Amino acid sequence: MNFLILGSGGREHAFAWKLKQSPMCNHLWVAPGNGGSKQLAQNIAIDPSDFSALKSFVLKESIDMVVVGPEVPLVEGIYDFFMDDQSLSKVMVIGPSKHGAQLEGSKSFAKYFMQRHNIPTAAFNEFTQANLEEGLAFIDENKAPFVLKADGLAAGKGVVITESKAEAKQTLQEMISDAKFGDASSKVIIEEFLNGIEFSVFVLSDGSDYVLLPNAKDYKRIGEKDTGLNTGGMGAISPVPFVDENLMRKVKSRVINPTIEGLKAEKIVYKGFIYVGLILVDDEPYVIEYNCRMGDPETEIVLPRLENDLADLLVKCSEGKLKDEVVKYSKKHGATVILASGGYPEAYEKGKQIIIPACENTTVFQAGTKEIDNILVTNGGRVLAVSALGENLADALLKANQQAEAIVFEGKYFRKDIGYEF
Ligand code: AMP
Ligand code: GLY
Repeated sequence: MNFLILGSGGREHAFAWKLKQSPMCNHLWVAPGNGGSKQLAQNIAIDPSDFSALKSFVLKESIDMVVVGPEVPLVEGIYDFFMDDQSLSKVMVIGPSKHGAQLEGSKSFAKYFMQRHNIPTAAFNEFTQANLEEGLAFIDENKAPFVLKADGLAAGKGVVITESKAEAKQTLQEMISDAKFGDASSKVIIEEFLNGIEFSVFVLSDGSDYVLLPNAKDYKRIGEKDTGLNTGGMGAISPVPFVDENLMRKVKSRVINPTIEGLKAEKIVYKGFIYVGLILVDDEPYVIEYNCRMGDPETEIVLPRLENDLADLLVKCSEGKLKDEVVKYSKKHGATVILASGGYPEAYEKGKQIIIPACENTTVFQAGTKEIDNILVTNGGRVLAVSALGENLADALLKANQQAEAIVFEGKYFRKDIGYEF
């Protein structure tokens, strides 16, 4: 089979690495890819949102399956674009329909979906320009902390949590009236603050049944001990130490089963990944967010623990045959540590030469990198994900951190405390 992966991050390099191990994989392309995917596959300079360019390429190269990495093309309707086009409708697309992608594309859609299907989540109210005054009064009448979320996609930046009423009111006004996050914040959700510990589960849905991939926990803040600005994710561990069978039973019965049943009942076509961000409050799981794709950097440690043939799993997903599929995970513990450009998530420089010493204990997935004249250079905020498996979490972290130390590029920054709570 010929595969086309869309995206350019560490997640997409990890997808390429895992698909390449499959005997089913004949030709592998990544659009646009990065320095890492270039070593395993052929990169092709197409923007994942340029559907007509993708169409020509898919037809020219007889692509059998498109694996969509990031959320934007899904929210823009890439699945529907393929299915509605006679010449493309036989191509398998891993990712939900445009309607299904609203689980990530609109926080309001996701909240009402959860409400309709009795899925535990924080209580919420929704405000727009039309009822802004009510929003301001709501803040006055309620207790901090306030969680304000831009309704639409905001590249992971659309959530503001504040202890102060004044800041909450100012933020609400900036989001709605000053378009702080563009169109994405013309509608704002104000949510009850949940105090607990977060973890994520990854569902692969075939539209009627599902399988679970290994769970993970990511570390979103730039600074150690979870301080400072939010990032796309500075590292992840898998499995999450406190997630036991009992908790997973609750997650399945209260969250995942009603999510899949809800999608079916509402006739929402969904053949792809659902990343369910959860928070554990008094031993009860609540949904913080849905994403309509895999996580980054979670994929960089979830896929190394997955023992199934990913190509086979994705074909079964597309064909609606996941019912009897058994997912096998490595018993080993995994950790991935992100090496970032100094300054990230604010301004940073690009084009710094990267030297990666050979290391048997780790797999280095590339994110913001590119090759110029056969020299690997930095090309983004998150540059590399160093992943390691070990007999226990400490062992995995030691291996990943040692390689993170050994890699050289100017301005390299990484958190040395991934997994610190365990
Ligand atoms: P989201 O983009 O919805 O995942 O939110 C980003 C981050 O904000 C989450 O990973 C949580 O750490 C935090 N967060 C979101 N919603 C809540 C909430 N209701 N209570 C507490 N923290 C939250
Ligand atoms: N690591 C968080 C995300 O992929 O959304």
